[in-house]
Amino acid sequence: MTYIAGENRYETMKYNRCGKWGLKLPAISLGLWHNFGDIDTIENGRAMLRRAFDLGITHFDLANNYGPPPGSAEENFGKILKQDFGPYRDELIISTKAGYLMWPGPYGEWGSRKYLLSSLDQSLKRMGLEYVDIFYSHRPDPETPIEETMKALDQAVRSGKALYVAISNYPADMTREAARILKELGTPCLIHQPKYSMFVRWVEDELLDVLEEEGIGCIPFSPLAQGLLTDRYLNGIPEGSRATREIFLKKEHVGSAHDKIVKLNEIAQLRGQSLAQMALAWVLKDKRITSVLIGASSVKQIDDNVGTLKNTGFSDEESQLIEEVLKG
Ligand SMILES: NC(=O)c1ccc[n+]([C@@H]2O[C@H](COP(=O)([O-])OP(=O)(O)OC[C@H]3O[C@@H](n4cnc5c(N)ncnc54)[C@H](OP(=O)(O)O)[C@@H]3O)[C@@H](O)[C@H]2O)c1
Repeated sequence: MTYIAGENRYETMKYNRCGKWGLKLPAISLGLWHNFGDIDTIENGRAMLRRAFDLGITHFDLANNYGPPPGSAEENFGKILKQDFGPYRDELIISTKAGYLMWPGPYGEWGSRKYLLSSLDQSLKRMGLEYVDIFYSHRPDPETPIEETMKALDQAVRSGKALYVAISNYPADMTREAARILKELGTPCLIHQPKYSMFVRWVEDELLDVLEEEGIGCIPFSPLAQGLLTDRYLNGIPEGSRATREIFLKKEHVGSAHDKIVKLNEIAQLRGQSLAQMALAWVLKDKRITSVLIGASSVKQIDDNVGTLKNTGFSDEESQLIEEVLKG
């Protein structure tokens, strides 16, 4: 059936500015790392994208390697985009990235100009797009001079293939350096995409301060620790969950986090929200966070996660209780 976006789609979502820049992102964004590959059902992916957009999620995050197989998430997204979202392109922020292995030989990964710009061309082709809104260097390259990687990002904007550029997984010192070079080139760094959740807190040491000083936004990925910070694993490992695939999330991770998950779930219940909602609200409570970048395998999970916005405040007592569990 032809998709017509919900009329009320902008009524409940909150939109936050990326650092000091003009672009605003929804407080909750949707990533297509899992559940949009060729091994997945495209109709489920379509239903999730439609529901997300109807709830005001205007930002969809991809990368060249999402699938499996690598590239298939962009292809499937491209099909859905063409069939469903044609009239809404200007209401969408679509990002992609290059950094991880995509093709054999010395030009198929990391941060050279050769790789980044060829990869962007391939991504545009797979998605059927003329440009992406945000193009990321997906990971820092220890061997390529950072100037080369940043110049390639700058070139992506100058050639009209990206509107903004960004970095992901860069440590604080390299972030400062990337920001300086991009500023000099005249194509500023819009946003940083680091891993951040109640369970992974490295950004609190220095990175968030650097982003604030530089006026760069922050969109944490895996804010639910790939599903650990939800009710998914409260009573074992359900069929079809990410941990059953044993690739990115392993059964042993579930086992070692279980006690904390149970205690956090009790606090969430006292707050009258699901554990997923509390985990997302906890990341969003820092004003330097622009958006939380969730993944989902069903429309129900998207509904649950957007429900976070009904209660994002924490009392001192709640914050302390959570800290005690996390440090315990
Ligand atoms: N820049 C990078 O290096 C990088 C790396 C990783 C991810 N990312 C980006 O970040 C996005 C999100 O990463 P992620 O998928 O790891 O995020 P996440 O939100 O931490 O985990 C998503 C998973 O949690 C479970 N889940 C979500 N909502 C739930 C709910 N309300 N109740 C119960 N379970 C729920 C689902 O697991 P099941 O599938 O088991 O149902 C879902 O697939 C990716 O799609 C990608 O765009 C970027």
